[in-house]
Amino acid sequence: MKIGIIGYGLRAGYVFAQMKELFPETELAAITDPRQQELAQTVGEETRFYDTPEQMLNREKLDGIIIGTRCNLHTDLAIRMLPAGIPIFLEKPVATTIEDLMRLKHAYENSRTEVVVSFPLRNTPLIKRVKEEISLGKIGKVEHVQAINNVYYGGVYFHNWYRDEALTGGLFLQKATHDFDYINYITGEKARWITAMKSKQVFKGTKEAGLECPDCNEYNTCPESSLIQPYGTKCCFAEDTGNEDSGSALIEYESGMHAVYTQNFFARKAAGRRGARLLGFKGTLEFDWYTSEIVIYPHHEDKEPERIAVTLAAEDGHSGGDSALIRNFVDVIRGEDKSRTPLEEGLFSALMCLKATASANTRTFQPISYE
Ligand SMILES: NC(=O)c1ccc[n+]([C@@H]2O[C@H](COP(=O)([O-])OP(=O)(O)OC[C@H]3O[C@@H](n4cnc5c(N)ncnc54)[C@H](O)[C@@H]3O)[C@@H](O)[C@H]2O)c1
Repeated sequence: MKIGIIGYGLRAGYVFAQMKELFPETELAAITDPRQQELAQTVGEETRFYDTPEQMLNREKLDGIIIGTRCNLHTDLAIRMLPAGIPIFLEKPVATTIEDLMRLKHAYENSRTEVVVSFPLRNTPLIKRVKEEISLGKIGKVEHVQAINNVYYGGVYFHNWYRDEALTGGLFLQKATHDFDYINYITGEKARWITAMKSKQVFKGTKEAGLECPDCNEYNTCPESSLIQPYGTKCCFAEDTGNEDSGSALIEYESGMHAVYTQNFFARKAAGRRGARLLGFKGTLEFDWYTSEIVIYPHHEDKEPERIAVTLAAEDGHSGGDSALIRNFVDVIRGEDKSRTPLEEGLFSALMCLKATASANTRTFQPISYE
């Protein structure tokens, strides 16, 4: 299985390493990345480097392509690779602007290429089990979703390149794209309307633009200094610190059911949470990836809540979602399965995030449609 990687950074490197571990026959045939010289020191001699993805396509006989650049380049590279018909593993978010989203949608509809969008969460054993429990009718139809994502490692979004909204498109596209996707997946419903709000209350300040933590006179005392938060060295209290530090959205689905989702980037340590409460007429089901536990509360029977501990295999990164994603990508390459996270769903989740951002910026309800 010959793989070509466009953008061999932290994420693509991790995905490929896991792919190699799960499927030793995988070969890193080629890389397109401007950091050629640096990367040549870390990969084997059999890997060839190219200046453009088109050169890579012309000279190699690839079985799969991984696109792992920073967010703002995903759309353009995917559009350039789709006509080749080779299965693509595409990092999220699939687009960072509405214009890019529409261009990608159009290119995809004119191709027959399978795309596996990098959404680990819906692939986790926890979510698979949640879906099973709901299908057993224990809580009835989901009529209300209360989802939460308190990112204890939120320093990532203020200390390094992610702090530049021009590259990321903002934090709904960074985080909520996963959460909206798993909510869509669990409920099986289409989202119709969204309204959102975001604030920047903590990671702002008057430190000079471009300040690096080690050059600051508070380096040894600041609780967010790179000495303590190992996510990069840019000051998160500087004038040029981008991104909101919390955000919330209300989403209405086609049945009339609504979801509330909220994300926070200054919660730390054990305050980290990622999961949801799903309420039906018969019961409430709650789950959290950090505890890997599902609890089901019956509404009308006098019995103790049911507690289900979901165990993970040692190989499982991202709570078991990454290995499932990679297995699916390999099955797609072998022609044994379709993508379980197809581009339609990556596009729809990105659309929800872009509309959430538009709603927050304009203080309006936004229809979730491509028109
Ligand atoms: N799905 C997930 O759960 C998950 C987790 C982490 C990161 N990500 C996503 O992965 C992406 C990459 O993040 P990262 O931390 O690996 O970033 P990174 O900066 O480590 O890697 C990006 C790579 O792209 C290369 N690059 C830059 N311009 C290029 C170009 N024109 N053509 C080809 N390569 C180019 C860079 O040299 C670098 O090697 C981001 O979009 C991020 O949102 C997804």
